[in-house]
Order: sequence, then structure tokens, then C-alpha cells
Amino acid sequence: MQIKSQINTILQNIFKELEIEAPNVAISDATKVEFGDYQYNGAMALAKALKKNPREIAQNIASELEKEKLFSKIEVAGPGFINLTINKEFLEQELASVLDSRAGVKQKDNPIKVVVDYSSPNMAKQMHVGHLRSTIIGDTIANLFEFLGDEVIRQNHIGDWGTQFGMLIAYFEENQANIDAKLSDLEEFYKAAKKRFDESDEFADKSREYVVKLQGGDEGCLRLWSAFIEKSLEHCQEVYDTLGVKLDKSNVKSESSYNSDLANIVTMLEEKGVAQESQGAKCIFFEDSQNPLIIQKSDGGYLYATTDLAAIKYRVQELGAKRVCYVVDARQAEHFKQVFEAARRAGIASSDVLLEHIAFGMMLDKSGRPFKTRDGGTVKLIDLINEAVNRAKEVISRANEYDEAELEHIAKVIGIGSLKYADLSINRTSNYIFNWDKMLSLDGNTALYMQYAYARINSILTKAGEFVGGKVVLNDELERRLALKVLSLEDTLQKAYKEAMPHIITTYLYELATLFMRFYEQNPILKDGVDEDIKKSRLILAKATANAIKVGLNILGIEVLERI
Ligand code: ARG
Repeated sequence: MQIKSQINTILQNIFKELEIEAPNVAISDATKVEFGDYQYNGAMALAKALKKNPREIAQNIASELEKEKLFSKIEVAGPGFINLTINKEFLEQELASVLDSRAGVKQKDNPIKVVVDYSSPNMAKQMHVGHLRSTIIGDTIANLFEFLGDEVIRQNHIGDWGTQFGMLIAYFEENQANIDAKLSDLEEFYKAAKKRFDESDEFADKSREYVVKLQGGDEGCLRLWSAFIEKSLEHCQEVYDTLGVKLDKSNVKSESSYNSDLANIVTMLEEKGVAQESQGAKCIFFEDSQNPLIIQKSDGGYLYATTDLAAIKYRVQELGAKRVCYVVDARQAEHFKQVFEAARRAGIASSDVLLEHIAFGMMLDKSGRPFKTRDGGTVKLIDLINEAVNRAKEVISRANEYDEAELEHIAKVIGIGSLKYADLSINRTSNYIFNWDKMLSLDGNTALYMQYAYARINSILTKAGEFVGGKVVLNDELERRLALKVLSLEDTLQKAYKEAMPHIITTYLYELATLFMRFYEQNPILKDGVDEDIKKSRLILAKATANAIKVGLNILGIEVLERI
């Protein structure tokens, strides 16, 4: 149920009735509780266009709104704001519809095919915290789109085709041994190879030779190269599985898989006049940028951008995507801006396809520096994840006693949930300050707070015995506001969908759980002496809240616990 868009439709109809030209009708949330639930602030702009008094226009709209059963209060305030309060009878009726497993959220009427490109680490190197952010945010976005009914294709655009592989092959040749033993710690292997590369010109030359051989299809090189990739992917898969992220081999579509199309892409771009030769390289130029997009180097080599153009072609023309989302570090903004524009100019993607860079900021430590280990190295993701689980274990065993198996399970759900939630709960475009204590706090906008709220409601429902249902009667303003919040889930998810912003969901969940806690403090449910009808009504409210929390957390890739 989308309350906001219902109100927008009502307003649109009123404008038709009043013969007012109003193209973008959008109500907003009330800025203060005293103002009611929603606000329409468009009367001032309309008045200007119509050369009329804004309060008079607002008054006319308000009189029409009075005819609707949806509102209990309509108020014109200040220069022409219209404040709206939703009728409690309406909420009471609607609440029955959110007791299902989707918490009443409908699927879109017009689903589309969407590609979400996320995680996308570079092979042979350790996945770093930037890839962690991409993995967590991307998985959430894919979950959200899927939940709302789109057909989502998850793509892991792994970097498996670069000069580093020549270096690794050269190093391997030098240190012939069992490949599995050598690759057990790929990161160490990579570091050692890099050291050799930086120290010895001879080794560097050898590495370059191997790159050429590899790219020329030499079988020995290709065999080694695939071994590196396979090993590297195993490490990534361990991270995905531990995090509970929905990526596996079937989602891998690597950079190298586009190799055979790169020459065509360059020819096509030249033929269409999109690319030009400049100092031996093939480039695409942009009015608003000093830097051209290079698609072929003077030595004939192809680049990151060339692969990305081939990937757009594949995603749009073969997969049939109508929206392609790239969940990648904000520092690649210019790359994507140029690649998207080049794709449009070349007709690889027409204007009915949305190409979006879902940018995110850096992960920083508490002092605002890039996130590193104590000795300045890259933090291994699997270590970071394990630490989250261990810290969660500590926090919860302080509060309660568990048997071993239960403790392990709960700590994992909470630890990983916290890691994800902390990342998702800030506006993704900002840098993200990583802070263990804040992340695992019981109080505040955290996974733990939400999981506690869920577990608490669950225990209330269990204690109440079989959930019977009945009629909801909203007894006070707090109950009315809680009901409205529960019913706003779909509006919230739609907004998060449009903007591809996961924090819109966490903000909602936090407000919902906070309202519930206040309601529960003030309005006992199972206490002796509570009227049976009131008890039933409050149980429905509790159940509806739990449903909305569960749906929200699941989209964020976070599990709930029946008991903590
Ligand atoms: N492998 C790249 C990196 O680690 C990210 C790739 C993102 N996806 C893409 N289609 N360019 O920076």
C-alpha cells in the first residue's frame, strides 16, 4: 500500500477538477509531528504561476481534500502549506493487509530487467574494503529490486585481465612448485611477485613478455592464469558465503569474457565517428572534460573503458536490461560518466535504458584515514568479518547466557548484520567511518537494536499464544502513528528503489522500531487487566511491526532472530 502516491493521485484529480495546471505533484513528510503526517507545499509555486493568492489556492485545494475519507485533519498554515493528518479508521482497516510475509508490499505493475554490477574485485589481489562496500550495498539494491518485482541479473564483473598476470606467471616460473601450495595465500604470492617486479628490470621485462604471450592465447600461460583466477575466486566465494551475499559462479561475467568483442567495439566506435585517433591512441573526447576516454592504446592494447563498453552492449542488447546499476567507488565517477555518454553516442544504449553509477564513499577509520591494518597493510575481509562475529559474541554473552551452538549462531547473525547495517545506514555517497563500538551498540540506529526489537515482539507474540487476529482499534496518537509507520513501508521501499539508496530503508526501520518501543512502554499488551479487545488490537500492531522489520532487514541481507 502506497499512501503517499494515493494522496498524490487525489491531488492530481483535484487539480484537474479545479482546472489547475500542476505537472509534478508530490507531497512530503511533515517536518514536525505537530503539523500532522504529510504536507503539500506546492500551493505557493502554483499561486505564482497563476498570479493568485497562495493561501486562497491552498484553501481551495483543502476544501476539495475535505471530501476525502482519508484525512482526519486538513489545515492551511503559514503562507499556504497544507498539513494533512491521516484518518485513524482508514489505518485500522488497512492494517489487516500487512500481516502477510510481504508486510503488505505489492510488486510493481511494470517490472523491468535490471543488471546490478557489484562486488567486482580484481583477481589475484586481496578483495579490499572498497569491494566490501560494493558487495554489501550492491546485494541490498539487488534484493530490493527483486522484492519489488523486477527481474534482477547480478553481475560480478571481476578484473581478471591485466598486466599483473604477466608478473604472476613470471614469478611462478621462477619458483616452480606445486601450484596449490604456492597459491594457498595468493596475497603473499602477489606481494612477493610485485617486489620482484619492482626490484628487477629483467623480471619486469619477462613479466611483460608473459602478458603478450597470455593475451596471444599461449596455452601454458592460459593454464596458469586460470589457476590464479580460480584460486582467487575461491577466496571471494568464502567472503560471499560468510556474508550471506547472493553471488556465486553463475554471476561471474569477467572482464576477459569480453575480449573477443573489443576489436569490434573499437571499429564500430570509429565508424560512427565517436572515437578518433590521437597520438596513436583511439580516444573519445568530451566537451566538459580535459581527459579523453582511451579505448585503445597506441600499442594496440585495450583498456578498462573498452571492456565496459562491451559490457554495456552485452547487458543492454543481449540480456535486455532496461536499467544497469554500477555499484562502484565514487572515485570512478568520471569513468562511468564518459563510458555512459560514449555508449549513448554510439547507440549501444538508447535513451530508454537507465545507466546508473551507484557511487559510494570511502571506508575510513575512526581518525578519518583510509582503513588499513595497524602496519598499514590491506585488511583481509575475512578477518574483518570474523572479528565482527567475535565482537558480537562478546556483546551478547555479557547480556545473556547461551549454549555453545546457539551463541555461535546468534553471534554470526548479529555480527554480520551489524557490519552490513552500519555500512548501509549512512548515505552511501558519504565516506563511511568504521567504528566497532557504534556498530555493535544496543541503542541507536544499529542492526542489534532492530534485531532486539524483532526478538522482543516475537517473544510477546509467543507468550500471547496462538495469534488470533481480530479488529484493530487505535487508541491513542502513538498507536495511530505506529500504524501509519508500518503502512508506510511500501512508500519507503519505492523511494529507496528510485534513488537506489539503502539508508532510506534503515532510517525507516529505526523510526519504526523506536516508535514501537515507545508504544510498548506506554501501552502494555499482556499485562493483567488489559481489556481483551485492546490486547488483540495491540497484538496485531505488534505483529505488523515485526513483519515490516523482517521484510526491511531481509532486503538489507540481514537475518532476524526469534530470540536473543
Ligand atoms: N574491478 C573494478 C575495481 O575494483 C570494479 C569494476 C566495476 N564494474 C565495472 N563494470 N567497471 O575497481
